[in-house]
Amino acid sequence: MNQTRTQERDSHEGHKGLKAIPGGAAHPVCSVAFGVFVASIVFVSLAAAASVWDGVYTEAQAKRGEAIYYQRCGACHGPDLEGGDMTPALVGGVFTANWNDLPVSDLFERIRITMPLDQPSTLARAQTADVVAFLLKANKWPAGEVELPRELEPLKEIRIQALKP
Ligand code: HEC
Repeated sequence: MNQTRTQERDSHEGHKGLKAIPGGAAHPVCSVAFGVFVASIVFVSLAAAASVWDGVYTEAQAKRGEAIYYQRCGACHGPDLEGGDMTPALVGGVFTANWNDLPVSDLFERIRITMPLDQPSTLARAQTADVVAFLLKANKWPAGEVELPRELEPLKEIRIQALKP
């Protein structure tokens, strides 16, 4: 996480630096430096982690997750995911603020290990990924072309961001 933040800060400073360049860019040495500079910005943005705004699950996957949700989660978390007496909502501002800036792997593991509360650790990894895809959709993060992975390593690279960057 810290690494990601540093990368972001670097690229922001980079944008500021960009404005200072034009005067000097005509000088050959400066042009080369400018080229390296631009290349490094491109590199930094490619290296930056994806977020839930990048279309990290598919519609079909969310649909499968929806079915699992209503079988395994809905009785407690509610038909509209709004939660109940002692059960937290899985949509909306409080939920997205809770998870803001954390990797999707954290949410995945939270569900895989502790939910359903009355039968913890009974979802397969694929089912967990499908349910998480459904939660992403329910929170209005966009679908994409590639399914949300079920392995931890790639899930660690996807960040939950409550607000659109
Ligand atoms: C028997 C009731 C029950 C069932 C079934 C259940 N949950 Fe929960 N869930 C809870 C309660 C109560 C909490 C809060 C207390 C806790 O975490 O132990 C919770 C917490 C959570 C949280 C953490 C929310 C937050 O923002 O901190 C998530 C995510 C979650 N549940 C997802 C699911 C999913 C997905 C399913 C279905 C696979 C599921 N739950 C099934 C009762 C349930």
